[in-house]
Amino acid sequence: MQILILNGSPRKKGNTEQIVTRIAEDVTKDGDEVELFRLADLDIHPCIGCGHCEKAGICIFKDDMQVLYEKIAEADRIILASPIYFYGLTAQAKICVDRCQALWSRKYILKKSISSKPGRKGYLISVAATRGERVFEGAILTARYGLDAMDVRYSGELLFPGVDGKGTIKNEPDYPAAVHTFIQLLLES
Ligand SMILES: Cc1cc2nc3c(=O)[nH]c(=O)nc-3n(C[C@H](O)[C@H](O)[C@H](O)COP(=O)(O)O)c2cc1C
Repeated sequence: MQILILNGSPRKKGNTEQIVTRIAEDVTKDGDEVELFRLADLDIHPCIGCGHCEKAGICIFKDDMQVLYEKIAEADRIILASPIYFYGLTAQAKICVDRCQALWSRKYILKKSISSKPGRKGYLISVAATRGERVFEGAILTARYGLDAMDVRYSGELLFPGVDGKGTIKNEPDYPAAVHTFIQLLLES
């Protein structure tokens, strides 16, 4: 199985990075292929709503998103990972999602396929400092519709509320079990 992980946290050695690295290591051991991108390291121009993609399904910006469009098409599983920033995704993650407008246009306006692979699935991983009941709501909605544009079926999430300090996710008692359960969900057919 080909698994694409888009890490939207700009914090190096932060909580999201620790979670996705652990998942990548565990899943690779099982023989699955993982590609992990740190979005903060990529050159991705924000969408400017020019509408070019509505005519051709292609974005005018020839930046690192062009590589991600290919990776998105090749993946069996796509994980969008982002900590909560002001009740939503980070800017880095949101820019990537917005640039999937080109895929949305291809799928819904031009009625063209995004991928030749069947049964593709998508997931959200997120971390937030607070424990508010609605803290992940905005991110889940954006991830759901972003992943739909990537043409994968939204199939679940791994959420950690109440985690703030850099890398402190490892101190959460339920962390190993939650990751284990998530990997099972990720790999099921
Ligand atoms: C700009 C910014 C905005 C944030 N907004 C929220 C927020 O709205 N709600 C919340 O619970 N935590 C918020 N946080 C805290 C982060 O979600 C938290 O520190 C998280 O553990 C960071 O994950 P990371 O280490 O993977 O980057 C914010 C942090 C930053 C830097």
